[in-house]
Amino acid sequence: AGAGLSDRFGRVATDLRVSLTDRCNLRCTYCMPAEGLPFLPRPALMSRTEIVRLVRLAAEHLGVRQVRFTGGEPLLRADLVDIVREVAALDPRPEISLTTNAIGLASRAAALAEAGLDRVNVSLDSIEPATFEAITRRPFLDRVLAGIDAVRSAGLLSTKVNAVLMRGVNDHQAVDLLDWALAGGHQLRFIEQMPLDADHSWSRTDMITAAEIRGLLEERYRLAPDDAPRDGAPAELYRVYDGERMLGRVGVIASVTEAFCSDCRRTRLTAEGRVRSCLFSHTETDLLEPMRSGASDDDLADLWRAAMWAKPAGHGLDDPTFAQPARTMSAIGG
Ligand code: GTP
Ligand code: 5AD
Ligand code: SF4
Repeated sequence: AGAGLSDRFGRVATDLRVSLTDRCNLRCTYCMPAEGLPFLPRPALMSRTEIVRLVRLAAEHLGVRQVRFTGGEPLLRADLVDIVREVAALDPRPEISLTTNAIGLASRAAALAEAGLDRVNVSLDSIEPATFEAITRRPFLDRVLAGIDAVRSAGLLSTKVNAVLMRGVNDHQAVDLLDWALAGGHQLRFIEQMPLDADHSWSRTDMITAAEIRGLLEERYRLAPDDAPRDGAPAELYRVYDGERMLGRVGVIASVTEAFCSDCRRTRLTAEGRVRSCLFSHTETDLLEPMRSGASDDDLADLWRAAMWAKPAGHGLDDPTFAQPARTMSAIGG
C-alpha cells in the first residue's frame, strides 16, 4: 500500500480529478477565450492506457477513492467508455464520476452507465437560449437539454447541475434555473465564479457572492440549511421551501467567500499527465514523461506524493500577493 497523498497542512487527497482533454465544444467566458487555445497535439495527451495506469496507481497505492473525469469536455474523448470500463475493473474500485457539458451525452449515457460510471455533473448556466449563447458563445442549449433529459428519463445516472452566476449576465435568472431544476428533479448547485478565465476580467468586488445567491433565491423561496454532513464536498446544501412545502434542495459552492480549502481532498491530473495539487498552484509535476521513459510505479507514486506535499494552504484569493494562474480552467481541468 504505502503512504497516501498528504500535505504539509494535514490534508489527505482521496479525490482525484483527471482531465481527459483540453478541448471543448463550448467557449464559456469564465473558462476559455473566444478563439480557443493552442490545444495540445494528440501525442501530448495521456493515452487510455496511461490514464488507467495512473488511476490504478492512485487507487492501489495512494489511497484515492473517487475519480472524476473532466476536461475541457471529456465526452470529446472517443475512448471515454473504455476508460470508464477499465477504471471500474480496478481493485479497489474507485467511485467514478464525470463533469460534462452534456453535449452528446444522450447517445452515450447508456454505454457509460453500463461501463460503470456512477454519477454525472452537468454544467449549465442558463435555460434561456440568448443567455446560454452569451455565456458559452455557442447556440447549443437544445443539445445540452437533450443530453440532460436523456440521462434523466433513462434513469441511468444521478445528475447534478452546476451553474456559475455572473452579474448582469445570468444572475436575474437564478430563480428560473432553480424552478427548472426542481421540476426536473436535478440537484442544482450555484457556483461563485473564480478567477480562471482567459481575459482576467474577474474581480473580487464584482463577483456574485454566495450570500447574494441565497438572497436572490430567498426573493421567491425559503431556504433552510440541510443537516446532511458536508464531508469535504464543495457545496453547502439548503432545503428549498415554498411556504411549508419542501420542493427539493439547492447547493451553493462558495469557493471564494466561504473557501473550503482547509478540508480539501483533491488532487488533479492535467490532460498532459501533470499533477496539479490545487486549482491555483503555480507549479505542476510531470508524470507522463517519466512514465514514458520507464518509471516504476514506486517512482511515479513518489513523484505524486512530493507534488501533493507542496500543495498550497489554499487559493489565496484574498492575499495581497494573489496572482491568477496562467492556465485557464479548461487547461487545468475543471
Ligand atoms: P461532487 O460534489 O462529488 O458531485 O463533485 P464536485 O462538486 O467536486 O465536482 P464538479 O466538477 O461538479 O465541480 C463543481 C464546482 O466545484 C466547480 O465548478 C468549481 O467551482 C468547484 N470546484 C471543483 N474543484 C474545486 C477545487 O479544487 N477548488 C475549488 N476552490 N473549487 C473547486
Ligand atoms: N469559476 C467557477 N467555476 C468554474 N467552472 C469553470 N470555470 C469556472 C470558474 N472560473 C465550473 C464549470 C463546471 C465545473 C467543473 O467548473 O461550470 O461545472
Ligand atoms: Fe483545494 Fe486549492 Fe480548490 Fe482550495 S482552491 S479547494 S486548496 S484545490
